Amino acid sequence: MTNPTHAALEPLLKLAEQAAQNSYSPYSKFRVGAALRLTNGEIVTGTNVENVSYGLTLCAERAALVRAVSQFGPQIRIEAVAIANLNGMPSPPCGACRQVLAEFILPDAPVVFPSAKGQRTIAFSDLLPLGCEMKLK
Ligand code: THU
Repeated sequence: MTNPTHAALEPLLKLAEQAAQNSYSPYSKFRVGAALRLTNGEIVTGTNVENVSYGLTLCAERAALVRAVSQFGPQIRIEAVAIANLNGMPSPPCGACRQVLAEFILPDAPVVFPSAKGQRTIAFSDLLPLGCEMKLK
């Protein structure tokens, strides 16, 4: 797609694709990569790491997030996310990853991911409109 948001996220998408090359996915063979751009200018990537138990599998988005906090500390804020896979399939971030990202992401951060209709970019607040939070209002 050629809209300006997609163009601006193109370098981040390339890094997500590169991260997917390192995927450890012997069970699903689904190779996913994620790249987070932080407000401090840093970019952190991650890939999915599967486990024989299946349930202990770590998604690419959460792998990237854990790396970002580990490297740069708990004050990080995410201003953009790119997700890619090497299987030519749709891969919007799963519900668990959305909830975990919510802890650190700016509500209007663009999230680009492969959808059934090609690359799609959505503001995070539209991806997770009613996430779990402790505030009553
Ligand atoms: N996966 C991700 O890495 N991110 C998602 O948001 C959805 C799913 C991974 C987990 C598993 O290794 C494989 O894709 C198949 O579900």
